[in-house]
Parts: sequence; structure tokens; C-alpha cells
Amino acid sequence: MTNAVLLGVQWGDEGKGKIVDLLTERADAVVRFQGGHNAGHTLVINGVKTVLHLIPSGAMRNGIECLIGNGVVTDLLHLLTEISGLEERDVEIRNRLMISLGCPLILPYHVVLDRVRDEARGKSAIGTTGRGIGPCYEDKVARRGVRAVDLVDERVFASKLEQVMEYHNFMISNYYRSDPVDYRKTLDAMLEARESILPMIGDVSARLNRLCRTGKSVIFEGAQGMMLDIDHGTYPYVTSSNTVSAAAAAGSGVGPQDIGTVLGVVKAYATRVGSGPFPTELTDRVGEHLAKQGHEFGATTGRPRRCGWLDIVALRRAVQVCGITSLCITKLDVLDGLETVQLCVGYEYQGSRVDLPPYGAEGLEQCIPVYENMQGWNDSTAGLRHFSEIPGQARAYLDRISDLLQLPITIISTGAGRDDTIVLKHPLESS
Ligand code: IMP
Repeated sequence: MTNAVLLGVQWGDEGKGKIVDLLTERADAVVRFQGGHNAGHTLVINGVKTVLHLIPSGAMRNGIECLIGNGVVTDLLHLLTEISGLEERDVEIRNRLMISLGCPLILPYHVVLDRVRDEARGKSAIGTTGRGIGPCYEDKVARRGVRAVDLVDERVFASKLEQVMEYHNFMISNYYRSDPVDYRKTLDAMLEARESILPMIGDVSARLNRLCRTGKSVIFEGAQGMMLDIDHGTYPYVTSSNTVSAAAAAGSGVGPQDIGTVLGVVKAYATRVGSGPFPTELTDRVGEHLAKQGHEFGATTGRPRRCGWLDIVALRRAVQVCGITSLCITKLDVLDGLETVQLCVGYEYQGSRVDLPPYGAEGLEQCIPVYENMQGWNDSTAGLRHFSEIPGQARAYLDRISDLLQLPITIISTGAGRDDTIVLKHPLESS
């Protein structure tokens, strides 16, 4: 058995979906373990684009089991839409999709709370995806949430929903002065969805343990990115889950020994969507170049992404916290044609040079990047499939990243298509 966790180690949008899809060539199952449909994983197969938000990125390969672990906040109505979208394209998914009994359910009132809360923050709004992610995790931690298992008994579900909605509707109307969410309508919609959902609900932890004990290979698919982790990211400008590798165990129901190798997916530059500190952000023509060449618009919200130079300081933190064993560099081709490329190798922070980011947004806002300049390259790297074809300067850039982080680069992605990839070592290959 070889398993692998695949994580984004920046602010999300590193191109993880494509890599998961590619790696499932050798896997038996893919499991999501945190986040929800705030994620947007884009796959391009034979020129056809598919964007998945909640369904694991193994969906496009027949026979791959797709599991949604207990750590994923699940909007069942959205999930059914995503399933129908795949079915319209003749991708059969229902018989290989399992949703954990432990998944907290995102309900319409979470979406309202997400919106009114972020509006109430005014200038310090997080800029969430507005999909109810944070409020749903809050309900989970407050031990008042409704979970997939509650759907098994209609009466249990109805009673828990009524109780929690009474509480939140009070807040929505009296504190946020917004319109309450109709309990009856919510219940009816959920009970209608229940019929289609129940056959797909199951014990994901038991299934995974069985797969692991029978020599099957599992990919644990991270969503968002390490710098958006609720504990280790740029708090409070983060998502509401742990995005680090350790969350793969807790969020799916396996022991840490089953996680396997940890592949960190790094975009060749940095992007961030939503608010929060971003020391290497570029608001000049280079930033525009990255945004344009990289098509940097959110796959979930369509918002333009902020762009900047690669931040090795932030990556050092990710490597430490996630125990990353190898790197995958994506979107290298976006840097093609730049005269100079820069790597942020340290920060000036409160009069000293630091090699790791300070905790929290306030500290990070004070950091001034220290750059190393490297010569750019004119030759195109787009669509390259062999390492030997990469131009010398681009190779020097990759080597420097590998040196600075003391990790091997095992995969290089040179375009959106499944095949625009150089795999130097497959993470599911035992060493
Ligand atoms: P939330 O996860 O919707 O609560 O949003 C919190 C922060 O995480 C916002 O800055 C979002 O833009 C960001 N975020 C959430 N999901 C993603 C993602 O999949 N990619 C990039 N940023 C994300």
C-alpha cells in the first residue's frame, strides 16, 4: 500500500485538482478531508474543462472511489447539482461516491450568516466565498450542528434542525437585522434531497481502513492551502478548517500512519483571493502579467486573484507544519517571458531579518520581503513533457526553490491539460 496526501501550500488555487486527477492513474480512491464547496478544482481532460467543488478529483476516472470525509462541511443541495452536472456528461458517480455519516451539513441559514457576518465586519471583512463554510464549522464545534447521520431518522433531523434554526434565526433577525430563514422550506428541501443522498451516506472511516488494510492506494485531497489554515495561516484571514496534512487523518478517520507521503503543491508564483496580508503582492505590470497569463480568477467565485512573487518564507512554515516530503510546481509557464524572476527568501520584520513568517495577520502585515533576483527565460515552457526540454534559467529557478526548501521537486505542471505534466517520481511509487 502507498498513500499520499496532496496539499496546497500557499493560499489555495495552486492547481491541486489537476494533479490529483493525474495521480489517480495509480490510485484506488480519493478522499476529501476538510473544507467544502468553497474549493474549486479545475480539471482539463482532452480539452474539456470540469470544475469540481465538493466531489473529489478522482471523479473523472472510472472505477476510482470518491470519498467525502467527516472533516468536510457538506452542502447536499450543491452536491446533488454537482452530481447531475457530471451525469449530464455521462460520468457515473453515485455508485462510487460515499459521504461520511460524520459530515456536518451546510444549510441555507449558514449561507445567510456567512454573508451578514462578513458584511458586519466592514473594512476588515474576510472576503469569504459566501458558501456558509465558517458558520457550519462553528455549529460543529459548538456541538449544535446537524450532520449527515441525522438524516437517517427523519424525526431526529427535523427536531435538530428546528432547534438550531430557532437559535440562528433569532441572531439573524435581532442582531444582524436581516430576514430569517424559513424552517419549513429548509426542512422540505432537505427531506427531498434525503432520498437521493441516503444511499451514498456511509462509514467512510471503515471504508478507508479496509482499503488501507487490503493494499489499496488512497490519495488524500487537500482543499484551500496551508496559509489559509485556521491555526497556522494568516489568522483571521483564513478559512475555518485545518488545511495541514495532519487534518487528513482526523478529517477522514484513519490513523496518521496511513497518510503516506506528503506532496506539497506550489504555484511557481503566489496568488491570494480575498482579504489579508500578502507580503510579496505585486500591483505593477508584473502582477498584471501573472494575472493575465495565469488566468487568475477564482474557480468558485470568479473574483480576480491578487498575484505576487513566490514566498519561500511562507513555504518554509508549510514544509515544517505539514511534513512535506516532495514538491510539485505548477504553472511554471506563466513566468515565461519575464526578464527577471524574484524569490522572497526572508522578511525584514521589526528591525530584524526573519526566515519564518510571524503568526497572525498583524505581524505579517509589517513584513517587508527580501528578494533574490534571478534571470528569467524567453523560451516557452508551456506544455513541455520532458524535463530535459526545460530552459536552463527555468531549471535554475526550480533548483533554487528545491535548495531553499531542501526538498525534491518530483512533478512539474506546464499547462492546464492532464498531460501537460512532467512526473519525475510518482508519489504513489514506493521508494
Ligand atoms: P471561506 O473558506 O469561504 O470561509 O473563506 C475564507 C477565506 O479563504 C477567503 O479569503 C477565501 O477567499 C479563501 N478561500 C476559501 N476557499 C478557497 C479556495 O479554494 N481557494 C482560494 N481561496 C479560498
